[in-house]
Amino acid sequence: MRIDIITVLPELLTSPFEASILKRAQEKGLVEVHFHNLREFTVGNYKQVDDYQYGGGAGMVMMIEPIDKCISSLQAERSYDEIIYLTPDGETLNQRIANELSLKGNIIMLCGHYKGVDQRVRDLFITREISIGDFVLSGGELAAAVLADSIIRLLPGVLGDETSALTDSFQDQLLAPEVYTRPAEYKGLKVPEILLSGDFGKIEEWRHQNALDRTQKRRPDLLENQ
Ligand code: ADE
Repeated sequence: MRIDIITVLPELLTSPFEASILKRAQEKGLVEVHFHNLREFTVGNYKQVDDYQYGGGAGMVMMIEPIDKCISSLQAERSYDEIIYLTPDGETLNQRIANELSLKGNIIMLCGHYKGVDQRVRDLFITREISIGDFVLSGGELAAAVLADSIIRLLPGVLGDETSALTDSFQDQLLAPEVYTRPAEYKGLKVPEILLSGDFGKIEEWRHQNALDRTQKRRPDLLENQ
């Protein structure tokens, strides 16, 4: 998989990809992540990427021309399966969307700023608009990092234990069960007996029931939507 991220602030974005799982995924050649600074696609000395909005009103709008130049230069090299715009008015990210996107080959992510991009960018280029939740960030960069992380960890070979993404919360519309590690007792608090029993059939049953109970208590909406 290849992810190209278009941004006016690459420095906000690079560090999450330089550590831990995301770094290792790139080192193993399972994903390539490239950053493109929109200012390098501007014309004129001011490297202008935004302008006042037609009709008046507070807030600047990202111009179509640099975005067109950047996307077109990428498309000249390869084809893209999705061109995603990160925006608070997009569809809300969930595990199903992350799963779907993890099956794609090449993806562009466009990070918005200010009042967002000229509507014609959305009409012309964007295939999918994604929000990471009902709140407004200063820009799309942190949202792109969240989206990329949720996708990359699902790529085969990225997580050490191949099954571990399958047992994440939300993979089957259930929250993950409680987990414990050593010591078996801490300040009088004991690990549930069953987990020490070595009976893996019973342990699986317990985990499934625990996941159901936790989901019922914390996120009953997940069970209703099945
Ligand atoms: N840009 C600003 N806020 C955002 C959000 N919640 N999700 C995606 N992109 C955004």
